[in-house]
Amino acid sequence: MSEERKAMLVLENIHKSFGRVKVLQGISAEVKEGELVTFLGPSGCGKTTLLRIISGLTKPDSGKVILDGQVINDVTPDKRGIQMCFQNYALFPHLTVARNISYGLEVHKWKKERIKERVEELLHLVRLDGLGDRRIEELSGGQQQRVALARALALEPKVILLDEPLSNLDANLRVQMRATLRQIQRRVNISTIFVTHDQVEAMTISDRLVVMNRGRIEQVGTPVEIYEKPNNEFIASFIGYVNILEGEVKRIGKGTEPLVVSTQLGELEILSDEKELQVGKHVYLVIRPETIRICDQGEEGETNGFQGTIASVTYAGSTVKYGVDIDGKELTVDEYDPTTRGIRSMGDRVRISIPRNVHLLKG
Ligand SMILES: Nc1ncnc2c1ncn2[C@@H]1O[C@H](COP(=O)(O)OP(=O)(O)O)[C@@H](O)[C@H]1O
Ligand SMILES: [Mg+2]
Repeated sequence: MSEERKAMLVLENIHKSFGRVKVLQGISAEVKEGELVTFLGPSGCGKTTLLRIISGLTKPDSGKVILDGQVINDVTPDKRGIQMCFQNYALFPHLTVARNISYGLEVHKWKKERIKERVEELLHLVRLDGLGDRRIEELSGGQQQRVALARALALEPKVILLDEPLSNLDANLRVQMRATLRQIQRRVNISTIFVTHDQVEAMTISDRLVVMNRGRIEQVGTPVEIYEKPNNEFIASFIGYVNILEGEVKRIGKGTEPLVVSTQLGELEILSDEKELQVGKHVYLVIRPETIRICDQGEEGETNGFQGTIASVTYAGSTVKYGVDIDGKELTVDEYDPTTRGIRSMGDRVRISIPRNVHLLKG
């Protein structure tokens, strides 16, 4: 990904209230050319409202929507060059697939021949070759989703907006469609805003994530940045499961030496690039379950090693999730490939090791 790509869509300090409810409270963000940015946040945080503002269906109270360098606040939805795909697809059930896709082209008075060509091209793009004459009702959910996408792409918009596009599909299909959607998006290279409340979906599909909560942006970053260096507890626990340990800085290391943080488990050595930490400072350690290791028997000399007892066991095929009780504090630990390693039992005494490079949040 080149860093010089221009900003295709810029949102500048968007505010929106419905009555006394402040739904959006100063949203500023940008989507670069060809980029797929996901707005991720819990239900009710304002995602759909934001998409409606971008597409022109809802007016913001203040703030600017800028498309390709032009402020478009006063441009009507049909003239914006932005296409929105609604959560329920909003297809015409009694029309054929082809007519659903060609609808916008007809409105724009394209010639019959050109429409036919374009529809074929789009059917091929979304892998529905040969299904142009089917009626929408005869399609599966995943196929309907692709018709909606083809329709949105028909007029080659500058930006497409996808509002929880996969939420009506069952789990397996959702995973497949994620990959398909991403491939298509890469091929057409259209700037895309994807909206979801599903963090795994967001992590797997996006160039960048914008994490929203209660009408505000909490953090913007690549999936790896957001997962590994969440800005606050909300993001840390929203993006996958985490163990959070409260502690106090006990000692600051010199140079590359680790910090020492005292927690309810005891003292932990932590390597942090966090600046401006003083002794006595209140901090939180964000510890992902897959980074904690259950040591093999007789293994010695681990840093941040603690003795505990298996308090719960949840088998999930490729992983086992253990609750490990350490002096009354329970940590969740994920162990992969349990069949090879052997599944532990409730009450087993184990020694765990917490890595030194856990993420640290200032309290
Ligand atoms: N037209 C409206 N009138 C009144 N309240 C609305 C309207 N649209 C959305 N809201 C409220 O705004 C908040 C955010 O809604 P929405 O943007 O749909 O959230 P999300 O898509 O993130 O679930 C909710 O509390 C919702 O009830
Ligand atoms: Mg919504």
